[in-house]
Amino acid sequence: MSRAIGIDLGTTYSAMAVVGDDGAPRIIDNAEGEATTPSVVLFQDIDGKDSPMVGSMAKHMAASQPMDVVQFVKRHMGDPNWRFDSANYTYTPEEVSALILKRLKQDAGQALGGSIDDAVITVPAYFDDARRTSTKQAGQIAGFNVLRVLNEPTAAAISYGLDHDRDGVILVYDLGGGTFDVTALRVNGNDYEVLATDGNRNLGGFDFDNALMQIVADDVAAQGGEGLLADPVAAADLREKAEMAKRALSNVPQTSVYVTFQGNNYRVRVTRQAFEDATQSLINQTRDTVLDVMDDAGLEWGDVDHLLLVGGSSRMPMVREMMQELSGKRPETDVNPDEAVALGAAVQATLESQGDGAPTMTIGGGSPITIQDVTSQGLGTISVDKDTRQDINVVLIPRNTQIPCMKSEVFYTMHDNQQHIRVDVTQGDSNNPDFVAIIGATELQLPPHPKGSPVEIIYRYDIDQIVQVEVIDLTTHQSLGEFEIDRESNLDQGEVHEASAHVAGLTIE
Ligand SMILES: Nc1ncnc2c1ncn2[C@@H]1O[C@H](COP(=O)(O)OP(=O)(O)OP(=O)(O)O)[C@@H](O)[C@H]1O
Ligand SMILES: [Mg+2]
Repeated sequence: MSRAIGIDLGTTYSAMAVVGDDGAPRIIDNAEGEATTPSVVLFQDIDGKDSPMVGSMAKHMAASQPMDVVQFVKRHMGDPNWRFDSANYTYTPEEVSALILKRLKQDAGQALGGSIDDAVITVPAYFDDARRTSTKQAGQIAGFNVLRVLNEPTAAAISYGLDHDRDGVILVYDLGGGTFDVTALRVNGNDYEVLATDGNRNLGGFDFDNALMQIVADDVAAQGGEGLLADPVAAADLREKAEMAKRALSNVPQTSVYVTFQGNNYRVRVTRQAFEDATQSLINQTRDTVLDVMDDAGLEWGDVDHLLLVGGSSRMPMVREMMQELSGKRPETDVNPDEAVALGAAVQATLESQGDGAPTMTIGGGSPITIQDVTSQGLGTISVDKDTRQDINVVLIPRNTQIPCMKSEVFYTMHDNQQHIRVDVTQGDSNNPDFVAIIGATELQLPPHPKGSPVEIIYRYDIDQIVQVEVIDLTTHQSLGEFEIDRESNLDQGEVHEASAHVAGLTIE
């Protein structure tokens, strides 16, 4: 059996898997015997020291101790301003995620025997460079050797492709707890080529829960109980109940939610129809993204051979109905939406742990698996248009470019003896600087040259979609410097080191 595991680090639930001796991936149950572990951390203070609890117990405590519980931390990955203060320590999103990963690491070790150190961790395809780096760091802080961060839809397609041995174009629609992705892939034997991907990292089951919470709160208000959502304890309690009601509505046309608020008991009846009406705009957003991806990939529905629905939220009947109506196809039904991503990650982990990055191992008796992924974000730099003198964004690597990749562009100095060149690394697809984000900047020294001297800027995206920049002075043909973008939003090596020491010192329940 492989010692490297695959981890689906989800917004709401996480799962892990390993490839067995038979070459087939299987889910590793957690210590409580569950196939998935809620990505929820309860911070308990025991004798002046944090004793975090992760998983189902922590999730149940969210309703009674909302101030001590962190949920949905994946939504904050790469956000330099998000912090959680426990009684004893201030946690970054990477550290909170590391606690979840540490719990999984412990449980994997218990299930498989010994220490499990190597892992592939999945991320939404739409995660940008900073969020991928944060995820990798979270793994390192938890004590993992992170072999790779892998896109969730690619992982799902691998697990599906292995099982079914079917070629053709697969469209993966992944609506999870906190994020949404659509990816089109072409599978040919064991070759997986991603054609296009798009998504919204802030759209998921969480938003559907919010809509249901609003329906219930409005009804309770109409019955005389004003201000339910403004009360943190009542709101946390309602969140758990709303999620349960939402799941029930996937199977039955109506359900009831019982809430106690300000000492009164309320019963609210919710129909699937009312819920679907309230969330129609969310479903429409996913529909638009599907169409964009079809467009970007240059596909017609007739070209799509398999429609995969993954992510727990794809169990909502309206998802299946919308996709069936849009595509005229029946989604595949024999995919477990909660497990597919972790299973595919385990396959990749086994391949990666076989050495030098070039996957050569055979799983399930076929030929070696190769994955050709694409970038999910355009990368560029700010330049001055020589005619209009206006700032423009020059896209060097457009979205949906195959990775790893390297692209360069030549720019010209604006003044005689210009001493510095400033590289603003932008993320986005627009030529208008107002519509892109500057994710890093650096200033490099330039030797004296006349105005109009050429300078080449080179961008590289590695296999993890992490960005490297190099600048070459074309007059002297010398490299002026090579750098990973210094992202304000990520921890530096020292901080990762300190965080690792802190997390290593904690016992996780
Ligand atoms: N039967 C169901 N009907 C509706 N929603 C469901 C059902 N089962 C699970 N869900 C929802 O699916 C979501 C969890 O899905 P999943 O485990 O795929 O997400 P995740 O991996 O945690 O999140 P992400 O992939 O966005 O990071 C939750 O919002 C949950 O309420
Ligand atoms: Mg997921």
